[in-house]
Amino acid sequence: MAAPLRVLVTGAAGQIGYSLVLQIAKGDVFGKETPIVLVLLDIPPMAAVLEGVQFELTDCALANLTGVEAVTNEKDAFTNIDYAFLVGAMPRKEGMERKDLLAANVRIFKSQGKALADFAKPTTKVIVVGNPANTNAFICAKYAAGKIPSRNFSAMTRLDHNRASAQVALKSGVTVGNVKNVIIWGNHSSTQFPDVSHAKVTKSSGEVDAVSAVGDAEWLKTGFISLPSQTVQKRGAVIIEKRKLSSAMSAAKAACDHIHDWYKGTPEGVFVSMAVPSDGSYGIPEGLIFSFPVTIANGEWKIVQGLELNDFAQEKIAVTTKELLEERDEALAACGESKQ
Ligand code: NAD
Ligand code: LMR
Repeated sequence: MAAPLRVLVTGAAGQIGYSLVLQIAKGDVFGKETPIVLVLLDIPPMAAVLEGVQFELTDCALANLTGVEAVTNEKDAFTNIDYAFLVGAMPRKEGMERKDLLAANVRIFKSQGKALADFAKPTTKVIVVGNPANTNAFICAKYAAGKIPSRNFSAMTRLDHNRASAQVALKSGVTVGNVKNVIIWGNHSSTQFPDVSHAKVTKSSGEVDAVSAVGDAEWLKTGFISLPSQTVQKRGAVIIEKRKLSSAMSAAKAACDHIHDWYKGTPEGVFVSMAVPSDGSYGIPEGLIFSFPVTIANGEWKIVQGLELNDFAQEKIAVTTKELLEERDEALAACGESKQ
Protein backbone atom coordinates (compact mmCIF):
# COMPACT_ATOMS: atom_id res chain seq x y z
CA MET A 1 0.00 0.00 0.00
CA ALA A 2 1.26 3.53 -0.85
CA ALA A 3 2.39 5.71 2.07
CA PRO A 4 -0.56 7.75 3.31
CA LEU A 5 -0.81 11.40 2.30
CA ARG A 6 -0.33 13.72 5.28
CA VAL A 7 -3.03 16.35 5.03
CA LEU A 8 -3.09 19.33 7.38
CA VAL A 9 -6.23 21.31 8.21
CA THR A 10 -5.68 24.45 10.28
CA GLY A 11 -8.54 25.96 12.24
CA ALA A 12 -9.87 22.41 12.49
CA ALA A 13 -11.89 23.21 15.61
CA GLY A 14 -13.80 25.92 13.74
CA GLN A 15 -16.91 25.93 11.61
CA ILE A 16 -15.40 25.23 8.21
CA GLY A 17 -13.04 22.71 9.78
CA TYR A 18 -15.94 20.65 11.09
CA SER A 19 -17.40 20.16 7.60
CA LEU A 20 -14.07 19.95 5.82
CA VAL A 21 -12.39 17.18 7.78
CA LEU A 22 -15.15 14.66 7.12
CA GLN A 23 -15.21 15.38 3.39
CA ILE A 24 -11.43 14.87 3.17
CA ALA A 25 -11.50 11.81 5.43
CA LYS A 26 -14.17 10.01 3.41
CA GLY A 27 -12.35 10.37 0.13
CA ASP A 28 -14.07 13.32 -1.57
CA VAL A 29 -10.71 14.96 -2.32
CA PHE A 30 -8.02 12.31 -2.88
CA GLY A 31 -10.31 9.40 -3.71
CA LYS A 32 -11.70 6.60 -1.60
CA GLU A 33 -8.67 4.37 -2.32
CA THR A 34 -6.03 6.84 -1.09
CA PRO A 35 -4.90 6.36 2.50
CA ILE A 36 -4.55 9.60 4.43
CA VAL A 37 -3.43 10.86 7.80
CA LEU A 38 -5.31 13.97 8.87
CA VAL A 39 -3.38 16.48 10.96
CA LEU A 40 -5.67 18.90 12.79
CA LEU A 41 -4.21 22.19 14.05
CA ASP A 42 -5.88 24.80 16.21
CA ILE A 43 -4.73 27.19 18.94
CA PRO A 44 -4.06 25.84 22.47
CA PRO A 45 -7.33 27.18 24.02
CA MET A 46 -9.20 25.02 21.47
CA ALA A 47 -7.33 21.79 22.38
CA ALA A 48 -10.33 20.07 23.97
CA VAL A 49 -12.65 20.96 21.07
CA LEU A 50 -10.02 19.71 18.65
CA GLU A 51 -9.79 16.44 20.56
CA GLY A 52 -13.57 16.11 20.28
CA VAL A 53 -13.28 16.47 16.48
CA GLN A 54 -10.48 13.88 16.48
CA PHE A 55 -12.65 11.43 18.47
CA GLU A 56 -15.59 11.93 16.11
CA LEU A 57 -13.41 11.27 13.07
CA THR A 58 -12.22 8.05 14.69
CA ASP A 59 -15.85 7.12 15.36
CA CYS A 60 -16.68 7.61 11.66
CA ALA A 61 -14.77 4.34 11.10
CA LEU A 62 -13.45 5.32 7.68
CA ALA A 63 -11.50 2.64 5.85
CA ASN A 64 -8.70 4.80 4.45
CA LEU A 65 -8.22 7.21 7.29
CA THR A 66 -5.05 5.73 8.70
CA GLY A 67 -4.52 8.33 11.42
CA VAL A 68 -5.84 11.53 12.99
CA GLU A 69 -3.44 13.79 14.87
CA ALA A 70 -4.74 16.74 16.90
CA VAL A 71 -2.00 19.30 17.57
CA THR A 72 -1.64 22.85 18.86
CA ASN A 73 1.85 23.76 17.69
CA GLU A 74 3.18 24.51 14.22
CA LYS A 75 6.12 22.11 14.27
CA ASP A 76 3.93 19.05 14.82
CA ALA A 77 1.35 20.40 12.39
CA PHE A 78 3.60 21.16 9.41
CA THR A 79 6.20 18.37 9.62
CA ASN A 80 6.29 16.30 6.41
CA ILE A 81 2.86 17.29 5.16
CA ASP A 82 1.81 16.82 1.53
CA TYR A 83 -1.19 19.18 1.47
CA ALA A 84 -2.18 22.10 3.69
CA PHE A 85 -5.69 23.51 3.97
CA LEU A 86 -5.00 26.82 5.75
CA VAL A 87 -8.40 27.72 7.16
CA GLY A 88 -7.57 28.90 10.69
CA ALA A 89 -8.12 32.65 10.88
CA MET A 90 -10.68 35.11 12.19
CA PRO A 91 -13.91 35.35 10.11
CA ARG A 92 -15.54 38.73 9.41
CA LYS A 93 -18.69 39.91 11.12
CA GLU A 94 -21.69 41.71 9.65
CA GLY A 95 -20.75 45.05 8.06
CA MET A 96 -17.06 44.25 7.60
CA GLU A 97 -15.13 43.78 4.35
CA ARG A 98 -12.75 40.81 4.24
CA LYS A 99 -9.74 43.13 4.01
CA ASP A 100 -10.70 44.50 7.47
CA LEU A 101 -9.30 41.19 8.76
CA LEU A 102 -5.88 41.80 7.28
CA ALA A 103 -4.13 43.21 10.33
CA ALA A 104 -5.47 40.42 12.58
CA ASN A 105 -4.90 37.51 10.22
CA VAL A 106 -1.79 38.24 8.19
CA ARG A 107 0.54 37.44 11.08
CA ILE A 108 -0.86 33.89 11.18
CA PHE A 109 0.16 33.40 7.56
CA LYS A 110 3.62 34.88 8.05
CA SER A 111 4.22 32.42 10.86
CA GLN A 112 2.76 29.48 8.91
CA GLY A 113 4.84 30.40 5.84
CA LYS A 114 7.95 30.10 8.01
CA ALA A 115 6.68 26.82 9.47
CA LEU A 116 6.13 25.47 5.95
CA ALA A 117 9.72 26.39 5.09
CA ASP A 118 11.07 24.83 8.27
CA PHE A 119 9.08 21.59 8.50
CA ALA A 120 7.04 20.74 5.38
CA LYS A 121 8.08 18.86 2.24
CA PRO A 122 9.30 21.04 -0.64
CA THR A 123 6.45 19.57 -2.70
CA THR A 124 3.70 20.60 -0.27
CA LYS A 125 0.67 22.17 -1.93
CA VAL A 126 -1.25 24.86 -0.10
CA ILE A 127 -4.74 26.30 -0.30
CA VAL A 128 -5.42 29.41 1.78
CA VAL A 129 -9.05 29.79 2.83
CA GLY A 130 -8.65 32.22 5.77
CA ASN A 131 -9.50 35.78 4.73
CA PRO A 132 -8.36 37.95 3.08
CA ALA A 133 -7.36 34.76 1.28
CA ASN A 134 -5.39 36.08 -1.72
CA THR A 135 -3.20 38.37 0.35
CA ASN A 136 -2.70 35.82 3.12
CA ALA A 137 -1.52 33.36 0.45
CA PHE A 138 0.87 35.98 -0.91
CA ILE A 139 2.40 36.46 2.54
CA CYS A 140 2.53 32.73 3.26
CA ALA A 141 4.32 32.06 -0.05
CA LYS A 142 6.77 34.88 0.65
CA TYR A 143 7.88 33.41 3.97
CA ALA A 144 8.13 29.87 2.57
CA ALA A 145 10.21 31.01 -0.43
CA GLY A 146 13.48 29.20 -0.97
CA LYS A 147 11.97 25.93 0.28
CA ILE A 148 8.56 25.70 -1.42
CA PRO A 149 7.97 27.21 -4.89
CA SER A 150 5.37 29.98 -5.10
CA ARG A 151 3.31 28.01 -7.62
CA ASN A 152 2.48 25.56 -4.80
CA PHE A 153 0.49 28.34 -3.08
CA SER A 154 -3.09 29.19 -3.96
CA ALA A 155 -6.08 30.97 -2.48
CA MET A 156 -9.67 29.86 -2.69
CA THR A 157 -12.03 31.52 -5.15
CA ARG A 158 -13.75 28.22 -5.90
CA LEU A 159 -16.64 29.17 -3.64
CA ASP A 160 -17.28 32.22 -5.82
CA HIS A 161 -16.89 30.02 -8.92
CA ASN A 162 -19.44 27.54 -7.53
CA ARG A 163 -21.80 30.38 -6.59
CA ALA A 164 -21.58 31.82 -10.11
CA SER A 165 -22.13 28.41 -11.75
CA ALA A 166 -25.16 27.78 -9.52
CA GLN A 167 -26.73 31.17 -10.39
CA VAL A 168 -26.23 30.53 -14.12
CA ALA A 169 -27.80 27.08 -13.74
CA LEU A 170 -30.83 28.46 -11.89
CA LYS A 171 -31.38 31.18 -14.46
CA SER A 172 -30.91 28.77 -17.41
CA GLY A 173 -33.21 26.09 -16.02
CA VAL A 174 -30.52 23.38 -15.91
CA THR A 175 -28.68 21.60 -13.11
CA VAL A 176 -25.24 22.92 -12.21
CA GLY A 177 -23.47 19.92 -13.75
CA ASN A 178 -24.54 21.37 -17.10
CA VAL A 179 -22.63 24.63 -16.58
CA LYS A 180 -18.90 24.96 -17.24
CA ASN A 181 -16.18 27.56 -17.60
CA VAL A 182 -17.45 30.48 -15.57
CA ILE A 183 -14.49 32.57 -14.41
CA ILE A 184 -13.75 34.48 -11.23
CA TRP A 185 -11.07 37.08 -11.90
CA GLY A 186 -9.06 38.74 -9.13
CA ASN A 187 -9.64 38.98 -5.42
CA HIS A 188 -11.93 36.93 -3.16
CA SER A 189 -13.66 40.16 -2.18
CA SER A 190 -16.46 42.40 -3.33
CA THR A 191 -14.26 43.63 -6.21
CA GLN A 192 -13.95 40.17 -7.80
CA PHE A 193 -15.21 39.92 -11.38
CA PRO A 194 -17.49 36.93 -12.03
CA ASP A 195 -17.42 36.51 -15.81
CA VAL A 196 -19.69 34.23 -17.84
CA SER A 197 -18.69 35.43 -21.28
CA HIS A 198 -16.70 32.23 -21.95
CA ALA A 199 -19.04 29.88 -20.07
CA LYS A 200 -21.16 27.16 -21.68
CA VAL A 201 -24.45 25.57 -20.73
CA THR A 202 -25.61 22.15 -21.93
CA LYS A 203 -29.33 22.16 -22.70
CA SER A 204 -31.41 19.32 -24.15
CA SER A 205 -30.73 20.86 -27.59
CA GLY A 206 -26.93 20.79 -27.04
CA GLU A 207 -24.19 23.12 -25.76
CA VAL A 208 -24.80 26.89 -25.98
CA ASP A 209 -23.11 30.03 -24.71
CA ALA A 210 -24.13 30.82 -21.12
CA VAL A 211 -25.09 34.34 -22.15
CA SER A 212 -27.73 33.03 -24.54
CA ALA A 213 -28.83 30.25 -22.15
CA VAL A 214 -29.44 32.85 -19.43
CA GLY A 215 -31.18 35.09 -21.98
CA ASP A 216 -30.73 38.27 -19.92
CA ALA A 217 -27.49 40.10 -20.80
CA GLU A 218 -28.38 43.05 -18.56
CA TRP A 219 -28.79 40.82 -15.49
CA LEU A 220 -25.40 39.27 -16.17
CA LYS A 221 -23.81 42.73 -15.93
CA THR A 222 -25.78 43.81 -12.83
CA GLY A 223 -27.78 41.49 -10.53
CA PHE A 224 -25.58 38.47 -11.20
CA ILE A 225 -22.46 40.39 -10.22
CA SER A 226 -23.52 42.71 -7.47
CA LEU A 227 -27.15 43.05 -6.35
CA PRO A 228 -27.33 41.47 -2.89
CA SER A 229 -30.28 39.18 -3.63
CA GLN A 230 -28.73 37.21 -6.49
CA THR A 231 -25.18 38.17 -6.46
CA VAL A 232 -21.82 36.51 -6.51
CA GLN A 233 -19.71 39.44 -5.23
CA LYS A 234 -21.85 39.96 -2.12
CA ARG A 235 -23.04 36.43 -1.42
CA GLY A 236 -20.64 35.96 1.51
CA ALA A 237 -22.04 39.08 3.22
CA VAL A 238 -25.62 37.91 2.64
CA ILE A 239 -24.85 34.54 4.26
CA ILE A 240 -23.34 36.33 7.28
CA GLU A 241 -26.42 38.58 7.56
CA LYS A 242 -28.74 35.57 7.55
CA ARG A 243 -26.73 32.98 9.52
CA LYS A 244 -24.86 35.46 11.74
CA LEU A 245 -21.90 33.25 10.85
CA SER A 246 -19.91 33.07 7.65
CA SER A 247 -20.43 30.34 5.08
CA ALA A 248 -19.01 27.04 6.24
CA MET A 249 -20.62 24.05 4.47
CA SER A 250 -20.27 25.64 1.03
CA ALA A 251 -16.76 26.90 1.85
CA ALA A 252 -15.64 23.41 2.91
CA LYS A 253 -17.13 21.88 -0.26
CA ALA A 254 -15.34 24.49 -2.39
CA ALA A 255 -11.98 23.81 -0.68
CA CYS A 256 -12.46 20.12 -1.44
CA ASP A 257 -13.30 20.87 -5.10
CA HIS A 258 -10.17 23.06 -5.38
CA ILE A 259 -7.73 20.45 -4.04
CA HIS A 260 -9.58 17.59 -5.76
CA ASP A 261 -8.99 19.23 -9.13
CA TRP A 262 -5.38 20.12 -8.31
CA TYR A 263 -4.76 16.47 -7.36
CA LYS A 264 -6.80 14.73 -10.07
CA GLY A 265 -6.78 17.31 -12.91
CA THR A 266 -9.54 19.06 -14.83
CA PRO A 267 -11.53 17.29 -17.57
CA GLU A 268 -10.74 18.08 -21.22
CA GLY A 269 -12.19 21.47 -22.21
CA VAL A 270 -13.05 22.50 -18.65
CA PHE A 271 -11.44 25.26 -16.64
CA VAL A 272 -11.89 26.25 -13.00
CA SER A 273 -11.09 29.40 -11.02
CA MET A 274 -8.13 29.36 -8.70
CA ALA A 275 -6.16 32.25 -7.19
CA VAL A 276 -2.51 31.57 -8.08
CA PRO A 277 0.67 33.67 -8.42
CA SER A 278 0.40 35.73 -11.59
CA ASP A 279 3.01 35.13 -14.27
CA GLY A 280 2.03 38.40 -15.96
CA SER A 281 -0.86 36.84 -17.93
CA TYR A 282 -3.59 39.33 -18.89
CA GLY A 283 -1.34 42.17 -17.68
CA ILE A 284 -1.67 41.24 -13.99
CA PRO A 285 1.48 42.18 -12.03
CA GLU A 286 3.75 39.19 -11.50
CA GLY A 287 3.54 37.45 -8.15
CA LEU A 288 0.12 38.83 -7.15
CA ILE A 289 -2.15 35.98 -6.02
CA PHE A 290 -4.93 36.55 -8.52
CA SER A 291 -7.88 34.37 -9.47
CA PHE A 292 -7.58 33.13 -13.06
CA PRO A 293 -9.19 30.43 -15.14
CA VAL A 294 -6.87 27.42 -14.96
CA THR A 295 -6.64 23.92 -16.37
CA ILE A 296 -4.79 21.26 -14.40
CA ALA A 297 -2.89 18.14 -15.47
CA ASN A 298 -0.41 15.98 -13.54
CA GLY A 299 -0.73 18.18 -10.47
CA GLU A 300 0.28 21.36 -12.33
CA TRP A 301 -2.08 24.28 -13.05
CA LYS A 302 -1.84 26.40 -16.19
CA ILE A 303 -3.51 29.76 -16.68
CA VAL A 304 -5.88 29.61 -19.68
CA GLN A 305 -4.43 31.92 -22.32
CA GLY A 306 -5.92 34.00 -25.10
CA LEU A 307 -9.38 34.75 -23.73
CA GLU A 308 -10.78 37.96 -25.14
CA LEU A 309 -11.55 40.65 -22.57
CA ASN A 310 -13.91 43.44 -23.64
CA ASP A 311 -13.85 46.96 -22.16
CA PHE A 312 -16.34 46.01 -19.43
CA ALA A 313 -14.15 43.06 -18.35
CA GLN A 314 -10.96 45.11 -18.46
CA GLU A 315 -12.47 47.80 -16.25
CA LYS A 316 -13.61 45.24 -13.67
CA ILE A 317 -10.23 43.49 -13.70
CA ALA A 318 -8.42 46.81 -13.20
CA VAL A 319 -10.50 47.52 -10.06
CA THR A 320 -9.77 44.17 -8.42
CA THR A 321 -6.07 44.37 -9.38
CA LYS A 322 -5.78 47.78 -7.73
CA GLU A 323 -7.35 46.44 -4.55
CA LEU A 324 -4.96 43.49 -4.46
CA LEU A 325 -1.95 45.76 -4.89
CA GLU A 326 -3.16 47.92 -1.99
CA GLU A 327 -3.77 44.87 0.19
CA ARG A 328 -0.32 43.51 -0.67
CA ASP A 329 1.38 46.73 0.44
CA GLU A 330 -0.68 46.89 3.62
CA ALA A 331 0.16 43.27 4.43
CA LEU A 332 3.87 43.80 3.81
CA ALA A 333 3.80 46.81 6.14
CA ALA A 334 1.98 44.77 8.80
CA CYS A 335 4.77 42.17 8.51
CA GLY A 336 7.42 44.87 8.92
CA GLU A 337 8.55 44.67 5.27
CA SER A 338 9.02 47.49 2.80
CA LYS A 339 6.62 47.93 -0.15
CA GLN A 340 7.35 46.07 -3.41
P1 NAD B 1 -14.13 29.93 12.86
O1 NAD B 1 -13.92 31.11 13.75
O2 NAD B 1 -15.33 29.08 13.05
O3 NAD B 1 -12.86 28.97 12.92
C1 NAD B 1 -11.57 29.45 12.81
C2 NAD B 1 -10.68 28.54 13.66
O4 NAD B 1 -9.33 28.94 13.41
C3 NAD B 1 -10.93 28.69 15.16
O5 NAD B 1 -11.11 27.40 15.74
C4 NAD B 1 -9.65 29.35 15.67
O6 NAD B 1 -9.31 28.97 16.99
C5 NAD B 1 -8.65 28.84 14.64
N1 NAD B 1 -7.40 29.60 14.59
C6 NAD B 1 -7.18 30.92 14.81
N2 NAD B 1 -5.88 31.21 14.71
C7 NAD B 1 -5.25 30.05 14.39
C8 NAD B 1 -3.90 29.71 14.15
N3 NAD B 1 -2.91 30.62 14.22
N4 NAD B 1 -3.61 28.44 13.85
C9 NAD B 1 -4.57 27.49 13.77
N5 NAD B 1 -5.88 27.76 14.01
C10 NAD B 1 -6.21 29.02 14.31
O7 NAD B 1 -14.06 30.49 11.36
P2 NAD B 1 -14.53 29.77 10.01
O8 NAD B 1 -15.95 30.12 9.75
O9 NAD B 1 -14.12 28.35 10.02
O10 NAD B 1 -13.67 30.61 8.94
C11 NAD B 1 -12.27 30.51 8.89
C12 NAD B 1 -11.71 31.51 7.89
O11 NAD B 1 -12.12 31.18 6.56
C13 NAD B 1 -12.16 32.97 8.10
O12 NAD B 1 -11.09 33.84 7.90
C14 NAD B 1 -13.22 33.15 7.04
O13 NAD B 1 -13.41 34.51 6.72
C15 NAD B 1 -12.60 32.37 5.91
N6 NAD B 1 -13.49 31.96 4.81
C16 NAD B 1 -12.99 32.04 3.53
C17 NAD B 1 -13.76 31.63 2.46
C18 NAD B 1 -13.24 31.72 1.05
O14 NAD B 1 -14.04 31.53 0.12
N7 NAD B 1 -11.96 31.96 0.79
C19 NAD B 1 -15.05 31.15 2.69
C20 NAD B 1 -15.53 31.08 3.98
C21 NAD B 1 -14.73 31.50 5.05
C1 LMR C 1 -17.49 33.86 1.88
O1 LMR C 1 -17.28 34.25 0.72
O2 LMR C 1 -18.58 33.35 2.22
C2 LMR C 1 -16.39 33.93 2.90
O3 LMR C 1 -15.28 34.60 2.38
C3 LMR C 1 -16.82 34.50 4.20
C4 LMR C 1 -17.05 35.99 4.10
O4 LMR C 1 -16.49 36.73 4.91
O5 LMR C 1 -17.79 36.41 3.20
